[in-house]
Amino acid sequence: MSDKYRILKNDNAEAAGGDFASDVDDGLSRPQKSISSKYLYDAEGDRLFQRIMELPEYYLTRCEYEILRDNRDRILLLLGGGQINLVELGAGDGKKTFLLLEHFLERGLQFRYVPIDISESAIQGLIASCCDCYDQMAVEGLVAEYFDGLKWLASQNQRRNFVLFLGSNIGNFTRAETELFLRGLHDALNDGDLVLIGFDLKKDVNRIKDAYDDSQGVTAQFNLNLLSRINRELGGDFKLNQFEHHCIYNEQMGVIESYLVCNKRQDVCIESLGKTFCFEEKEPLHVEYSHKFSEEDVAQLAQNAGFRVVEQFYDSDRLFVDSVWQVIK
Ligand code: AVI
Repeated sequence: MSDKYRILKNDNAEAAGGDFASDVDDGLSRPQKSISSKYLYDAEGDRLFQRIMELPEYYLTRCEYEILRDNRDRILLLLGGGQINLVELGAGDGKKTFLLLEHFLERGLQFRYVPIDISESAIQGLIASCCDCYDQMAVEGLVAEYFDGLKWLASQNQRRNFVLFLGSNIGNFTRAETELFLRGLHDALNDGDLVLIGFDLKKDVNRIKDAYDDSQGVTAQFNLNLLSRINRELGGDFKLNQFEHHCIYNEQMGVIESYLVCNKRQDVCIESLGKTFCFEEKEPLHVEYSHKFSEEDVAQLAQNAGFRVVEQFYDSDRLFVDSVWQVIK
């Protein structure tokens, strides 16, 4: 199975885990402490995110599943024929993608599936599922960060590319990162290539808040796992029971901001950094942005990055949109 995926190392990565250690150091040294949400996804984080996707409050996954199930013929039509690289950025467990892959295989589309994810365990799981279910499918996984994935994409000019970026993963970037990412995606692709991007739409505030503050406390566990990860991998001594998950919806900006708030002053020693960080009572540690988008936001983002909007696919409640864009060069 390991011949079916490769690890693309970040150019600046030192030893394995080097990025994590230095990013934690950097994030905890700021006046407003913050750690990138990409570090939520170790094997335990992947498992907890699977549970989030099944929560009654977390509507995003079900909406997108419905969209892909109901529009796969139309998507196939947009792709036309010929050899295609079907690239998925931030692939996760691939459940929604399998809906499309299965359909495309049945209809004889010639494609190679290239899932790209920062989590090696996610890619391993995905490849194992592909091998079990679809032995005739060509698959080549890449363990990489988005921007390294884009560099790989730029070297693929002999085939047409169709890039999936599902689940409103785009919402976890800051606005500036979103624009940089979309520009990078545009520049890495060939004229006429297609992308399909999932956006969670702006809607009733309580519906959004409930999705990030579920009644079973799975989202809280998911975020707290970041501190466990620091304890496990970097020799930290965070007292987890003294932190609470807290999220707020900034309606003006259209963003859920997730924090772990310290409820008792503590000094946290991180052995592998040889440093101690002081957390005051009520001090927040920012762990994630989850942006929400209006239909105008989507159109504007496409235009600014050099894409033409080809088609918009909505779920029946219009909570979510999968937007298909074409690269214009
Ligand atoms: C992966 N990403 C799109 C999820 C989101 O909705 O922002 C991550 C998540 N965080 C808490 N719940 C889900």
